[in-house]
Amino acid sequence: MGFQIPVLWVLANLSALVWASLLPEQMAHDLQSLISPDSDIEVVGSNQTWPSGFTPRWAITAPPKYIMVIKPRLVTDVQAIIRYASTNDVPFLATGGGHGYSSTLGGLEEGISIDMGYFDEITVNTASNTMTTGGAVKTADIVDALHAVGREIPVGQCICIGYSGATLGGGIGPYSGLHGTQSDSLLSVQMVNGRGDIVTVSKNQNRDLFYGIKGAGANFGVVTSLTYRVYPATNGGMAMNADMMFPGALNGSVWELARSFAGNQPKELSITFSISYNATIGDIVLIANFIYAGPQARGRRLIKPFLDLGPINLSITTVTWSDLPRVAVYGLPYAGCRGGSLYVPQSLNLYRIDVANIASVVNYMKRRMAAEPSLQSLFVAWAQYSQYGFAKFSDDSSAFPHRDAVAFVQIDGFAMDPSQVSSVNEFGKEIRDRFQRGSGRRDLSVYVNFAHGDEPAKAWYSSRKLPKLRELKRRYDPNSSFSFYNPIL
Ligand SMILES: Cc1cc2nc3c(=O)[nH]c(=O)nc-3n(C[C@H](O)[C@H](O)[C@H](O)COP(=O)(O)OP(=O)(O)OC[C@H]3O[C@@H](n4cnc5c(N)ncnc54)[C@H](O)[C@@H]3O)c2cc1C
Ligand SMILES: *[C@@H]1O[C@H](CO)[C@@H](O)[C@H](O)[C@H]1NC(C)=O
Ligand SMILES: *[C@@H]1O[C@H](CO)[C@@H](O)[C@H](O)[C@H]1NC(C)=O
Ligand SMILES: *[C@@H]1O[C@H](CO)[C@@H](O)[C@H](O)[C@H]1NC(C)=O
Ligand SMILES: *[C@@H]1O[C@H](CO)[C@@H](O)[C@H](O)[C@H]1NC(C)=O
Ligand SMILES: *[C@@H]1O[C@H](CO)[C@@H](O)[C@H](O)[C@H]1NC(C)=O
Repeated sequence: MGFQIPVLWVLANLSALVWASLLPEQMAHDLQSLISPDSDIEVVGSNQTWPSGFTPRWAITAPPKYIMVIKPRLVTDVQAIIRYASTNDVPFLATGGGHGYSSTLGGLEEGISIDMGYFDEITVNTASNTMTTGGAVKTADIVDALHAVGREIPVGQCICIGYSGATLGGGIGPYSGLHGTQSDSLLSVQMVNGRGDIVTVSKNQNRDLFYGIKGAGANFGVVTSLTYRVYPATNGGMAMNADMMFPGALNGSVWELARSFAGNQPKELSITFSISYNATIGDIVLIANFIYAGPQARGRRLIKPFLDLGPINLSITTVTWSDLPRVAVYGLPYAGCRGGSLYVPQSLNLYRIDVANIASVVNYMKRRMAAEPSLQSLFVAWAQYSQYGFAKFSDDSSAFPHRDAVAFVQIDGFAMDPSQVSSVNEFGKEIRDRFQRGSGRRDLSVYVNFAHGDEPAKAWYSSRKLPKLRELKRRYDPNSSFSFYNPIL
């Protein structure tokens, strides 16, 4: 317990006179008496120095600003914090893995972080093929726990993120080709909703909220426990990982092959491309990653057309399912777990692979990046999963609206210092807009967990789902307390 009252006690009492805004020390004192004794509370100084023992934020240009961090132990503690904060009109935000990066998070000022760090348990039941987790488990812990007992579930490509946080927005990764989104595997959820009520949400209880939680979940409350279906490990828990590099000059041929897989990609095969600029050679370099949940020999046959193009670097290995996120794409996403930089993201979905359009985007990138060194750390990555897993669940089963996307594109800009943020962002946005022209859709569509944060809500949730989600929002979060992460309203 880090909280101490002494000197500030006087100030705290004084604040009773200044009724309009409670002092943080007063609030900490109030809250301390409302929650269980081994919860942690720390007041955060105006310099936002992060107290140790609390979950930091990964990388973001406009972070949420806190006056206090609280790490509750019990579901009733979460409820007490939400009720206290709502009554006193203090903004708050749940923190799971701390890897959310939407610019909307910067809208939270003088708020409370409800750090879910103590909700980190993972229980796997192999008899029923289910897993129950706390609201702040990390993907890394999920993969290790499941692999140890011969089970699997879809996970994202970066294992340092919060598994629950990702699930609330859908959660997509290589095994989505087999099993859909992370949220498609949800069986039930315990949460404290925006009314401050502790509720169980499932197919049978609060069914409408269950729909909303799966894809728009950050909008309705704090999730304390999640139960998922898990699956027997495909191919005995082993998979092929193939990484290869191509020179920019081959980009057209690479996209031709990518197009040939779109729509008929085997469910066991996931493909990721990345497009970056190498300043030493002054050229675009492509990396292609193939994960195949099957025997390596069959995987090699599937990707033979890419091998026949003559990659300049090739690495094919067979690894455990749990190690895939650590080794895939030459281990670069795993290295990206470090964080701490000024991340400037843009994203969009593609509904077809338009070879000529993508080649023209690559040419544009090369031209701009050759001329402007401050843009050279940006890279574009896209995940092309089989649609088999997504199509197993109907569009109206959840708020996740992107079952028919062919590729989820991420435009990952990094600014070396704050003065570069806006130029890197403009570049990223221009790349996004150029991709959009060949996306196969008139309107922009963006996976909510990859969003910059300035897109319209219909890009994240779709026009067809927004009316229902807005109604759910009015019902379960009437004060719009949960509106700092790509909000519905
Ligand atoms: C390097 C990197 C790689 C990524 N790769 C993938 C990927 O392959 N696939 C994919 O799907 N996503 C991916 N993501 C995106 C990721 O899904 C989001 O960043 C997600 O928001 C992370 O959740 P978190 O709990 O770590 O973050 P947080 O910042 O803690 O949470 C994000 C939002 O969710 C809310 N939230 C978190 N936990 C809870 C809870 N228990 N109850 C209620 N609300 C909660 C928070 O309040 C916040 O609004 C990646 C992100 C990064 C940084
Ligand atoms: C930031 O504020 C905290 C608490 O107010 C203080 O202890 C710490 O020394 C400050 N750090 C810096 C770098 O100013
Ligand atoms: C909504 O806000 C009002 C005013 O701040 C507060 O009195 C009320 O308790 C809040 N309602 C909920 C459900 O949190
Ligand atoms: C990308 O491919 C196209 C079509 O094959 C080619 O004309 C172009 O030069 C390539 N771009 C780069 C940067 O090499
Ligand atoms: C750029 O290319 C050079 C020459 O092939 C290579 O040595 C270097 O590692 C590359 N840089 C990056 C960041 O990949
Ligand atoms: C392939 O690239 C990886 C990562 O950059 C590097 O470690 C490896 O040495 C390269 N292999 C060859 C044969 O060039």
